[in-house]
Amino acid sequence: MRPTNLSDLRRRGSKTAEAASAAQQLRTELGTLVDVREPKDAEEPILGEVVRAAILGWLHEINAAEELRAVGVKPRSTALLYGPPGTGKTTLAHHLAARLGVPLVIVKAEQLVESSLGGTGRRIAELFDGLAKVGAPCIVLMDEIDAIGTERTDDNQACAREMNAALTTLLQRIEGFGGRLIAATNRHDKLDKALWRRFGLQISVDLPGEDERFAILKRYGMPYDFGDEAIDALTEVTRGAAPSLLRQVMEGLKRAVVLGDRLRLPMNDPQAILRIVIEEARPHPDYKPPPLWADVRLVSTFAPEAWPPAREARA
Ligand SMILES: Nc1ncnc2c1ncn2[C@@H]1O[C@H](COP(=O)(O)OP(=O)(O)OP(=O)(O)O)[C@@H](O)[C@H]1O
Ligand SMILES: [Mg+2]
Repeated sequence: MRPTNLSDLRRRGSKTAEAASAAQQLRTELGTLVDVREPKDAEEPILGEVVRAAILGWLHEINAAEELRAVGVKPRSTALLYGPPGTGKTTLAHHLAARLGVPLVIVKAEQLVESSLGGTGRRIAELFDGLAKVGAPCIVLMDEIDAIGTERTDDNQACAREMNAALTTLLQRIEGFGGRLIAATNRHDKLDKALWRRFGLQISVDLPGEDERFAILKRYGMPYDFGDEAIDALTEVTRGAAPSLLRQVMEGLKRAVVLGDRLRLPMNDPQAILRIVIEEARPHPDYKPPPLWADVRLVSTFAPEAWPPAREARA
């Protein structure tokens, strides 16, 4: 949405300044426990219909909090995002924070884990106390929540007891937290059931479908115009690839266009270039490789309209 008039611009400006000052306070108070990102640095992920609808619904709900409270509905304040690596969970949390005009406070759950007795519980307490002390509106993203949120065990080993205690502290702190909290994981099957239940929304951020792959390839191909047919062909042979890998491929192609002569790449042969790019950008060996990586001969389907590609008129 573009600001329409001067007062709109001023309102936006003051909201940006507020978010920047809140971000600074959070950094000062929470130090190395967190990484704070501001709304201005957010980018919008390209998502499937279902996730988009869920997120839009949540935004409407947050903006209509008073109306909902008036009829006895408490707006949901927590969400769990789960799905394979590189599908946009962190990007989405940042985008949501930006839509609300507040900073995103990223806590890597792994950083909360400490080996001393009661250490993890103390760090969790330190985090939530710090957030309450600053009191500034923000979204907290507990990334890799599985690091402390895996299913509790009956194991009586000191380490298991320690993790169970830390998880109990986390559950209590989430319950008592007044702000908005998102957790992300790519190991949702391992999550403790009581923790799972703490989230008002559970959203699966899955690998992109065909339309999303096309849009992602196109976005990261900009400002070059590779032509829809070439992007279509790439869409087809990258079935099963995460957005992060699609981004790597397109950035690899752009890098080659810019540096190709200096690197003595075969600049008259786009298929050879794509082949070099996919040798350097690969899916994790644990995942089933998308067709292009399973059969490298599929580079032959990549035939851009012009090579090197033209820059789009509006970059
Ligand atoms: N849906 C998407 N649309 C556009 N770009 C995306 C999308 N998903 C990921 N990306 C790009 O891929 C990169 C990694 O994304 P991100 O860190 O959000 O993934 P993630 O799901 O949080 O991964 P992980 O599970 O490893 O934490 C980002 O640079 C982002 O720009
Ligand atoms: Mg992430």
